[in-house]
Amino acid sequence: MLRLDGIDAGYAGTQVLRQMGLEAKQGVITVLIGPNGAGKSTTLKIVNGLLRPTRGQVSFAGEDITKLPAHERSARGIGSCPEGRRLFPLLTAEGNLRLGAYAPRARAAADETLAYVYDLFPRLRERASVKAGRLSGGEQQMVGIGRALMSKPSILVLDEPSLGLAPKLVSEIFEKIHELRQGGLTVLMVEQNAYAALRIADFGYVMQNGRVVRAGPPGELLDLEALRRDYFAIG
Ligand SMILES: Nc1ncnc2c1ncn2[C@@H]1O[C@H](COP(=O)(O)OP(=O)(O)O)[C@@H](O)[C@H]1O
Ligand SMILES: [Mg+2]
Repeated sequence: MLRLDGIDAGYAGTQVLRQMGLEAKQGVITVLIGPNGAGKSTTLKIVNGLLRPTRGQVSFAGEDITKLPAHERSARGIGSCPEGRRLFPLLTAEGNLRLGAYAPRARAAADETLAYVYDLFPRLRERASVKAGRLSGGEQQMVGIGRALMSKPSILVLDEPSLGLAPKLVSEIFEKIHELRQGGLTVLMVEQNAYAALRIADFGYVMQNGRVVRAGPPGELLDLEALRRDYFAIG
C-alpha cells in the first residue's frame, strides 16, 4: 500500500537516510524500530511529506507521490501524527481534533468521525473543551492520534506514540492501535520501545544509521541477542 524505495534524504547538507526502503502492507501494523538518531522520524517525514528526499521514490496506493505536498497526502488517505504531535496548545482538545478533518471528504463526516474518536478514547470526550496545552502527555497523545483519524485515513502513521507515557498508558495506547488494526486500518509506526511495539506488530524493520539493517516478522526480530546487536553495534 505504501512504499519507500532508495530514499536519500537529510537536513541542510547532512545526509541522514541512505538508500532507505520499506513497505507498509494493507491491513497490518508495520513498525520501524532502532536506536535514537537512526533516522526513524526522518523516514516518517518522507512518508507524510514534511521533508523531500534528494533521491528515491515514495509510492502510495500504486501512485508515485514523491512530489506531493503534505496536505495532499493527507487528503489522499495518509493520516499522520508527527514527532512531537504538533498540537495547537491554545485550542481545545476538540478544536485540535476538528482540524484533522479539513479535507472535503473528511469534513463532511467530521461529526460522525469525532463520535468514533470519542468512543475510542472516552477520556477525550470528558476533556473536549480543555485547551490542548493543559492536557496530560497521554491525553495529548490521544488527541494526536485522534486528529490523524479525523482525516479518515487509509493508513495511520505514528511517530513514537508511547514517548513520555507512564507504562500503564503505554499498554492502553498500544491496545487502541491494535484495535484500529482489527477494524481494518493499516498502521505504520515508529517506536523506540521495541518490545511493546513488536508485540502488536505484523512486520518490523530495524533501522541503523539511516538504513534498514534487518526486517522480518516480530518473532524473528524479538530475538534478544540480535536486537542488542542492532541497537548497540557501531556502523
Ligand atoms: N530538523 C533537523 N535538522 C537537522 N538535523 C536533524 C533534524 N532532525 C533530525 N536531525 C538529525 O537527523 C538524524 C536522525 O534523526 P531522526 O530521524 O530524528 O532519528 P530517530 O527518530 O531515529 O531518533 C539525527 O542525527 C538528528 O540529529
Ligand atoms: Mg524520532
